[in-house]
Amino acid sequence: MSWNFEEINITVQKEIQEISDEIQLESFRIKYLGRKGLIADMYASLSSLSKEEKPLMGKNANILRNTITTFIEEKKKVFRAEQKKANRSFIDVTIPGMEHSVGHKHILTQTIEEMCDIFEKLGFVVQEGPEVETEFNNFTALNIPEDHPSRDGFDTFYLEQKDSNQKDQNLVLRSHTSPGQIRIMKEYKPPLAVVIPGKVYRPDAVDASHSFMFHQIEGLFVDTDVKFSDLKGIITVFLKKLFGRDLEMRYRPHFFPFTEPSAEVDIACYLCKGKGCSVCGRSGWLEIMGCGMVHPKVFEAVGYPKGKYSGLAFGLGVERITMLKYGIHDIRMFFENDMRFVRQF
Ligand code: PHE
Repeated sequence: MSWNFEEINITVQKEIQEISDEIQLESFRIKYLGRKGLIADMYASLSSLSKEEKPLMGKNANILRNTITTFIEEKKKVFRAEQKKANRSFIDVTIPGMEHSVGHKHILTQTIEEMCDIFEKLGFVVQEGPEVETEFNNFTALNIPEDHPSRDGFDTFYLEQKDSNQKDQNLVLRSHTSPGQIRIMKEYKPPLAVVIPGKVYRPDAVDASHSFMFHQIEGLFVDTDVKFSDLKGIITVFLKKLFGRDLEMRYRPHFFPFTEPSAEVDIACYLCKGKGCSVCGRSGWLEIMGCGMVHPKVFEAVGYPKGKYSGLAFGLGVERITMLKYGIHDIRMFFENDMRFVRQF
């Protein structure tokens, strides 16, 4: 049998043009390349041909097989690309929606913002300072004497070997936010009213009420005629806003090197309401912040003229207040990031 390759080629071209999906393409493949397809027939019939015809026919059959294979591959590629495009633009509106959970601010951040908001309403400006401080700002300028126990390596993290020649330049992780007072006063002249929130560090062993890092908010108000009654007024308004109108509080004389006079503020225990329990150590009161009138030595250290200004300062521990406000019994909860805790606020 001899084959008319020209005609077959024309038919193949025509057929391939008409193929519009993968199923038709598969039938086409079987028809030509299948085990009982045309090409197989051609090879089978080669044996009945004469010696002269055989090579030419064989060659033509090979060419035809290659052409068809290429056609099929190309068509397949086109179909796959079309399929991909179709998949992409297809939206299945019946698939259930995905819920994206929205995070929220950590309870400490929330409390810091709430407290700063209250002070801003009272006219204070919020400023932040660096966590790495000089020994001068953290201690010396605050009238903390050379031999004060808080300067000890057990109470403050030193970043460099203590150099006794230029002590004031030694770097520490600030052990309170009070060096923020110094930075503000070195830069600005009164009248000024600022609150300085931030992290502070002390090398304490970690337990339910101690952490080597915690947060404080420092307050400073300096003008020509600031009185202790201003301090009481500001703190009273602040605490009542934070804990509610009925809050009972008291001012207890205390000592800080950088304020004179100094006081600590107590609030009635949230648990026993002042009767005395294990949380307040039977006293009925919980210490909540330190405060006082800025010491003249501090004004001197920042270069303010002698006797011209008076000021009030206070410092409060954010974790402690947050624990009291929400009845949290362990400071470690704030930093463990257990989602069962974090999600409650
Ligand atoms: N810096 C003090 C502390 O960390 C708190 C304080 C600030 C007291 C300002 C008085 C005035 O304990």
